[in-house]
This record gives sequence, structure tokens and C-alpha cells, in this order.
Amino acid sequence: MTKNIVVLGSLNVDNIMKMPRMPLVGETMALTDVTTAPGGKGANQAVAAARQGANVSFIGSVGNDSNGQFMRATLLSNGVNVNAVTTNSEVPTGSAYIMLQENGANTILIHGGANQALTVADLDENVIAKADTLIAQFEVPLEVIVAAFKIAKANNVQTILNPAPAVYDLIPELTHVTDIILPNETEAQLLTGITVENNEAVLNRVSNAILAKGVPRSIITLGDAGSFVADRDKRWWVKPNKVDAVDTTGAGDTFIGTLASVIDADFNNLEETVKRASIASAIAVTRAGAIPSIPTRDEVDAF
Ligand code: RIB
Ligand code: NA
Repeated sequence: MTKNIVVLGSLNVDNIMKMPRMPLVGETMALTDVTTAPGGKGANQAVAAARQGANVSFIGSVGNDSNGQFMRATLLSNGVNVNAVTTNSEVPTGSAYIMLQENGANTILIHGGANQALTVADLDENVIAKADTLIAQFEVPLEVIVAAFKIAKANNVQTILNPAPAVYDLIPELTHVTDIILPNETEAQLLTGITVENNEAVLNRVSNAILAKGVPRSIITLGDAGSFVADRDKRWWVKPNKVDAVDTTGAGDTFIGTLASVIDADFNNLEETVKRASIASAIAVTRAGAIPSIPTRDEVDAF
């Protein structure tokens, strides 16, 4: 069954700065490489779902500039429908500045631009209503996400929330219309105030704190420690697929887009879905860039 997925989210051009290590305050340091690649958490998740074979539509906004054209073209060439992507002439297309260390770890600065200028009026109720699943992240205004999730739940559409970056509180108005939430370890820590450690007791405690906010299930992605899945009566830790990290940018997004492309309406196949998402993100980690690193369905099958 081909899933219909709508992604409400960000479109960024990623400026990737490769460096031996993070610079210290006051230090001047030479980069080993500078490249650009298409990214943005929304775009990455949309392309990940599309490369797994889902029908994907995007709701978002770009500026009236060459970066906006580049991001539109990127979505289109990946088969993502851009009819609900608006062009805003007041602000530039979103951009990200990625400090990529030799070991593949990254630190990201974003400039929201058009992503942050998205409004509730940009939401087309019909686009959301006919989807199986709606995905959103925290790189567009919170009120737009809340409005979209309310439309989704009123139309029996599954909702997936990636609270990244963790810039908004998990308000009940949002959590009560969210079916699953997927923070990474940093975001889980910011959202709960609990220091995340890779041990079962702590991960249980963090998961309890997240579910207590009103979401029925969560998956905390833990990078090279795998992911921790929780619902109201079950917990399990999915161990990682060991790979050599080249660039972890977009790996979490690949996990989410892949999960959305195969998860069923009642989350009955959550276990096998998480395994598949883990494989997809492991492949993405071995390659440079966000969107350029996202695997196809055949590549995940072959892993
Ligand atoms: O999750 C990775 C993404 O975060 C990057 O592509 C960057 O654009 C930021 O949105
Ligand atoms: Na990557």
C-alpha cells in the first residue's frame, strides 16, 4: 500500500563547513572544506519518505530567490508535490550553517527566513485531509503546526511530531493531537529537563516524562546508540547498525521519513518499522550532505 504523506516543514540550503574539531571562543581556525547541499528538516523527511516510495506533498515556504528555486527543484526531482509550497518575496529562503567535524558529528545554526514566515493561512485543509500521515518539525511557527495537526486529527490523519530543534514547549494543545513524537537525545533532554544517558532506567524516565505531556508514544533517537521506543505499555531499545560515520546531518530526518512511509495507521508494525528506519539512517550517516545521503527503498532492502 502506497502511503500518502504530507510534510509541513522547513526548506533550507545547507552551508556545510568541514572542520577538524569545534573552534574555541576567540579562536581562528581553517576549514578543510566548504560545500552546499539541499536540506532543512522538512525537506529531508519529505525526500526520505519519497525515496521509500511514498506519495509525498510538501507544505512550506521559500523566498523569491535562487535558493528557493533550488529547493523547489530538489523536491520536484524527488517526486515531492510542491503545489502547497508558497513563495514569499519579503524574506530569503531558509539556510543552515553546519559545523561538520571529522568524526561526522555536527552542530547546526539555522536562519529561518521563509520557513518562519509561514502562516496558518498557508495551510490548505484539503491537502492535509486527504493524507494518511502528517509530519511536522519545529522549524516553522508553532501556531501553524498546531493548526495543521488539529485539521489532521479532525480528518483521521495520523500525526508525527519531530520536536526539532526543541524551541517550543510541548503544550497540551499540540500533544493532544500528536500520535507519536520523535526527539533526538538533545531534544529529549531540553524538553524534559532530564539528562539523557544511554541506560535503560534513564531512558524509561525520559520516556515517561514525554508521555506524561500527553503523547501516546515516543521514539528517542540516540545516534550511534540506536533508538528507544515507548508507548503506554511497552518499552524497547533498538540497537544501532554499526557503520563508519561520514556525516550524520539528516540521519534523524531519514529515520523519520522512512518510518512514516511504512508505519500503519494503528502503529501495529512499529517494531519492524523502527528497524527499517534505523537501517535507512545508518546508510545516510555513511554519506555526505543531508538530502544527497538519503537512501532509496532498494538500498534499504539490500542492507
Ligand atoms: O536535521 C538536519 C537539518 O537541520 C539540516 O539539513 C539543516 O537544514 C537543519 O534544518
Ligand atoms: Na549524511
